[in-house]
Amino acid sequence: MALIDLALQGSVAAETDPIFERVERIIPRVEWPLHAPYVAAINRLKRERKAVILAHNYQVPEIFYTVADIVGDSLALAMKAAETDADVIVLCGVHFMAETAKLVNPSKTVLVPDLRAGCSLAESITAADVRLLRSAYPDTPIVTYVNTSAEVKAESDVCVTSGNAVQIVEALQAPRVIFLPDEYLAKYVASQTNVEIIAWKGHCEVHERFSGADVARFREGDPTLTVLAHPECPPDVLAEADFVGSTQGMSEYVGRLSESGGARVLLMTECSMADNVAARYANVDFVRPCNLCPHMKRNTLPKILHSLEAMEYEVTVAPEIAQRARRAVERMLEFSRQPRD
Ligand code: 13P
Ligand code: SF4
Repeated sequence: MALIDLALQGSVAAETDPIFERVERIIPRVEWPLHAPYVAAINRLKRERKAVILAHNYQVPEIFYTVADIVGDSLALAMKAAETDADVIVLCGVHFMAETAKLVNPSKTVLVPDLRAGCSLAESITAADVRLLRSAYPDTPIVTYVNTSAEVKAESDVCVTSGNAVQIVEALQAPRVIFLPDEYLAKYVASQTNVEIIAWKGHCEVHERFSGADVARFREGDPTLTVLAHPECPPDVLAEADFVGSTQGMSEYVGRLSESGGARVLLMTECSMADNVAARYANVDFVRPCNLCPHMKRNTLPKILHSLEAMEYEVTVAPEIAQRARRAVERMLEFSRQPRD
């Protein structure tokens, strides 16, 4: 459906002008007429379909701030997906996030705007690989990052996200765990606990492109720089960082920097994250090395509109897989709901 209305007249303008205020610091006024008709149509259709849009922190600002009802990291999206009473969940993120939403709230229709939105970590390991590891280490718990397929989750004891991996590995009280599939996240967890970690060699194609030398170069240009890094980055990047955390953790850290008077920040993570955080904190300045996640970027406003119009593309999980995968995800959510010290 061609919706572009460059004149941006009448009801679309009335409906979307207040929404534009949320993004005016990052989207030029001249570009808004390209987005506004889609924003208005999506928001209308969302109400008709009793749908909710969940958007990951890596979504572009014109999705993140204008049509999303819930935004956050993988953990927050999983928790909110479990709680929603909407009939339809449109997951603007990547495929494993939509599968997780379906696992935790199976009676809902879960849609993705583009079925090709995958993840290099999820593709790095299969259920057969996990079964082989299980047979080699029968008594060792298998901890699996949520960035995996439902089939891989089904072979696992518990799932984790970057926001709770350390806490859950410690809570298992095992001397050794198998941690799949992100090698760098596994190494980061190992650096934070006394638990022996057996890792897989999966990598995030976005974060593995950063290096410690990149951070050192940026710091040379500005020694006051505060460096925040996602734990999917290689160890030499994490060694240079002032803070390591999930996308949500990084966003909250920037909030604290803003409260204490502002800062100049380098975010070692996907590009749109800095745009979304910058829109919120006027007194924080961002250095922006830009590594894009091509999978996250498959979601666009026109595709979201199509998704709601055609009720496509539905994400389902075969019942025999879902039952076992759900157990691993639910176990993670139970850990995460427990109050921390
Ligand atoms: P978060 O859970 O930190 O949002 O990370 C998800 C992800 O895919 C990072 O690349
Ligand atoms: Fe997967 Fe990396 Fe993209 Fe996150 S940023 S979805 S880990 S490829």
